[in-house]
Amino acid sequence: MQGVIEKRGNIGIIWIDNPPVNAISQAVREGLMTALASASADDEIQAMVLACKGRTFMAGADISEFASGPKPPGLTEVIDTLSASPKLIVAALFGTTFGGGFEVALGCNYRISSTSGKIGLPEVKLGIFPGAQGTQRLPRLAGVDFALKLMVSGDPSSAQEALAAGAIDRIADKENIVEAAVEYAKELLADNAPLRRTHEMAIDPAPFGKEFFDGFRKSIARKTRGMNAPERCVSLVETAVNLPFTEGIKQERQLILEAMGDPQAKALQHVFFAERLANKVPGLPRDMALKSVKTVGIIGAGTMGGGIGMSFINNGIPVTILELDKEALQKGLGVIQKNYDSSAKKGRFTEAQVAERMNLITGTTSYDDLADADLVIEAVFENMEVKKEVFSTLNEIVGPDTILASNTSYLNIDEIATVVKNPERVLGMHFFSPANIMRLLEIVRAEKTSPEVLATVLKLSKTIGKVGAVAGCCYGFIGNRMLSGYGREANLLVLEGAAPEQVDRVLYDFGMPMGVIAMADLAGIDIGYRLRQGMDESHYDIQATYVADRLVEMGRLGQKTGAGTYDYQPGNRTPIPSPVTKKIIAEAAEKFGVNQRRISDDEIIERCFYSLCNTGFDLLDEGMAYRASDIDIVYINGYGFPAWRGGPMHWAEHTVGLAKMLDSIRNSAEKFGDRWWKPSPLLERLVRDGGSLRDIQNQ
Ligand code: NAI
Repeated sequence: MQGVIEKRGNIGIIWIDNPPVNAISQAVREGLMTALASASADDEIQAMVLACKGRTFMAGADISEFASGPKPPGLTEVIDTLSASPKLIVAALFGTTFGGGFEVALGCNYRISSTSGKIGLPEVKLGIFPGAQGTQRLPRLAGVDFALKLMVSGDPSSAQEALAAGAIDRIADKENIVEAAVEYAKELLADNAPLRRTHEMAIDPAPFGKEFFDGFRKSIARKTRGMNAPERCVSLVETAVNLPFTEGIKQERQLILEAMGDPQAKALQHVFFAERLANKVPGLPRDMALKSVKTVGIIGAGTMGGGIGMSFINNGIPVTILELDKEALQKGLGVIQKNYDSSAKKGRFTEAQVAERMNLITGTTSYDDLADADLVIEAVFENMEVKKEVFSTLNEIVGPDTILASNTSYLNIDEIATVVKNPERVLGMHFFSPANIMRLLEIVRAEKTSPEVLATVLKLSKTIGKVGAVAGCCYGFIGNRMLSGYGREANLLVLEGAAPEQVDRVLYDFGMPMGVIAMADLAGIDIGYRLRQGMDESHYDIQATYVADRLVEMGRLGQKTGAGTYDYQPGNRTPIPSPVTKKIIAEAAEKFGVNQRRISDDEIIERCFYSLCNTGFDLLDEGMAYRASDIDIVYINGYGFPAWRGGPMHWAEHTVGLAKMLDSIRNSAEKFGDRWWKPSPLLERLVRDGGSLRDIQNQ
């Protein structure tokens, strides 16, 4: 039962109990309405405390109602009733008071929070905004700046920040938040405190004219490019400044209907569910016992090994890291220390936290020190022989149950697993650089990997703050295999007449963090060059790589040498179109007999992304991904594909349309041959027979 009233003297506590996070379901809303009515009518009750059982105050709307639409009473009705209460109401906040939960708190007269409590309005991350009067109440209560920050970023604020802004009124001085709230309510009664109603508060409009909002919009323009939801948040705060509350909520209601129907909101909600789904291995019992991972070994303290180590120690899991010799080890540990020191300088960690983390990492050059590890991740050079040698040695040292993972970008995990006695414990754990920051962990299921090992590593990905997604064992797995067509087309387009800066601009405007050509300059174009040295030519297109190879041979390796495809001013990362590169491109076009032409922006989108998506369809058809949505998760979290487009597969189906994509791929096949442009059989089947990507689930 929701909304049970407990009386403590003249204070009535309205209890909500809807585990696990007190989502504001229909039953909660109805219970609240009934409780409010009876508490108002009860003469013994002079003030109320709104309290929750469990681990948090209401943490948001009930997302399962998103699809069907909420049944009455609506959240707004509940908040109207709260805010009209003739008796004072204190909200007792703890845990994560997010979204609708915080809007409920805004409908109360006073808010007290536990010390560790957080408040937040994360709706923008689902492509919408707080649509139960939050956009109009919060700026009135806590000011325009704080409201903009909370709503537009979607990130939570601590109780301390919230108190400073006035979004809450007090931080509890005792553990038990409900006791503290009851005391606060009594104190307010004793002081004859007014019924503070957020909708009756006024904002002084003077500092918040057009110029202020123009400036704010400019400040977020780069980060929010292409997105609709942040602008809706800003315009509603502007409304709160300029219009009376009743007018403001009318606008809010109008806009929320528009926002709910926005394809961007649908895409972001798809991503929200996709992320949770990606963590599940199909067909496994929910209660299957998983292996415990308490200590981790890492082989190689280079770029990746160091970052991977930080991901574990940041989450309290001790790591032993092994290098070839003392010198390489010291260098690797030194980089980790430097990374933490620079974070500490920026105020992200205290010195003590840095020391605590560094204490969790032990360096070694002896495999014996890895004997007790529950999991060992190999991050040595990208070379099959070296990797096999590492796994053979591990096979002799660690226990038979120790999970063995490779962080390889391309190499065949099945082959690596052949040197190990129990290959069911071998899999790929493909991190992204910088590994301590990037959210994706692509988990490669080899032929013999056991479901238990897979599920254990998926769970572990969450423990270390990553989003795990499972890929099958094929060249480049999901992410890098799809990337190859994307990069190839970008380079071929340059050969055919698009300037590198045109290609990069179009990809950036699409929503990618950077164009792929500038990206290669950042990573170093010698990486691809070296990779190709040991690679079969069937994996790449010599016309697409010709320019990069000439640049590398000239010593133009990218930003690190001050020049790559682009030129760079010393100390400046802004790419400048280079006459040298232009000349090489012209030579290449002549060499391959390519007639350069004007290339449209649309062609750049189609060639780069349709090629990428076509590979995605192949991966799904071959069973290399469990579901299309896993591919979306890989691309969003590992490669920066804009989440508001839902990921490449969602975009293919819901924005471009499968038939249109297939048509264009067939046209490309006619124009450029079918070496790279073979329409995926799955795409062909879906267009021919109908059906949705959503219904495809591999085992
Ligand atoms: P790196 O060259 O920075 O580091 C490799 C480290 O392994 C070096 O410190 C080296 O001394 C050490 N090492 C080599 N052989 C060893 C052995 N037998 N025993 C112990 N240590 C040994 O290379 P990076 O970039 O960290 O790459 C490592 C692996 O991660 C490669 O397989 C690479 O393909 C993969 N990877 C790299 C990414 C990147 O962006 N750099 C992204 C994802 C995966």
